[in-house]
Amino acid sequence: MLKPKRGIPSWLHLHLVYELLVQYVVSPDTDTKTAKHYIDHPFLMKLLDLFDSEDPRERECIKSILHRIYGKFMLLEILGSIINGFALPMKEEHKVFLARVSIPLHKPKALETYHSQLSYCTTQFVAKVCRLADTIIMGLSKCWPVTNSQKEVLFLGELEEVLDGTGTVEFQRCMVPLFRQIARSINRSHYQVAERALFLWNSDHIVELISQNRTLILPILFDALQKNTTQYHWNQYKERKGKCRELEEQRELIWQRLEAAAV
Ligand SMILES: *[C@@H]1O[C@H](CO)[C@@H](O)[C@H](O)[C@H]1NC(C)=O
Ligand SMILES: *[C@@H]1O[C@H](CO)[C@@H](O)[C@H](O)[C@H]1NC(C)=O
Ligand SMILES: *[C@@H]1O[C@H](CO)[C@@H](O)[C@H](O)[C@H]1NC(C)=O
Repeated sequence: MLKPKRGIPSWLHLHLVYELLVQYVVSPDTDTKTAKHYIDHPFLMKLLDLFDSEDPRERECIKSILHRIYGKFMLLEILGSIINGFALPMKEEHKVFLARVSIPLHKPKALETYHSQLSYCTTQFVAKVCRLADTIIMGLSKCWPVTNSQKEVLFLGELEEVLDGTGTVEFQRCMVPLFRQIARSINRSHYQVAERALFLWNSDHIVELISQNRTLILPILFDALQKNTTQYHWNQYKERKGKCRELEEQRELIWQRLEAAAV
């Protein structure tokens, strides 16, 4: 391992080494089992020792690497089952952990590499304490990805799982901002985002929640559901036309389900 205390000139070289490690950790091609063999306890202890470094850039770099290592290999994989075993009533520190760690972990660019584990953790919180559902939903809304459609699809998937465990009371606390966000997603010109958002209606539980407050929710969704998909910029491309039609059919289905629920 590298020793702490190094001068400014060597940082360039050192940075490359750290960068290599970061890339290895975050790469989707990295086999987790193999990686765990090398990024083991002694390795992590040595990495922690490097916090002694006098160079703040190095400390910052190590912090970020540890964050990613925990995100990918350790914390999240076991955390879900730990949360599942939390005693009730849930300790305040665990709720703080949800708000300060689990939710902000949705922000990093590398989310895709650990999203399924993270999503498992958040749904475990809801499964344990139903009342936390709106904390999570509002938390997700706050760090909702605006420009990254792949991330947005992941968020919508997680939202569906959380909503499936959400009760009426929690739902009503967050439904207005929630459906403003869903309307924006339905309205996206990116096909997969719009489709994933419309998919929420495949859940009977979510349809039931919506129908209880449809007079409030439908006006929020109206514009997005009315959207004329022929305006989608890719419509001129033949292979996309089928996709637009599917989206149209999905919208149609939603109207039917909403009408049926309204009777
Ligand atoms: C949908 O997108 C259009 C522009 O593409 C925008 O003018 C409109 O306000 C959006 N509607 C919603 C509900 O987000
Ligand atoms: C939502 O629906 C419930 C029961 O269906 C009702 O008691 C509540 O007032 C509604 N909330 C709003 C904001 O409309
Ligand atoms: C949708 O937009 C296209 C082109 O802007 C138009 O030709 C078509 O009539 C519109 N369809 C509906 C149902 O509004």
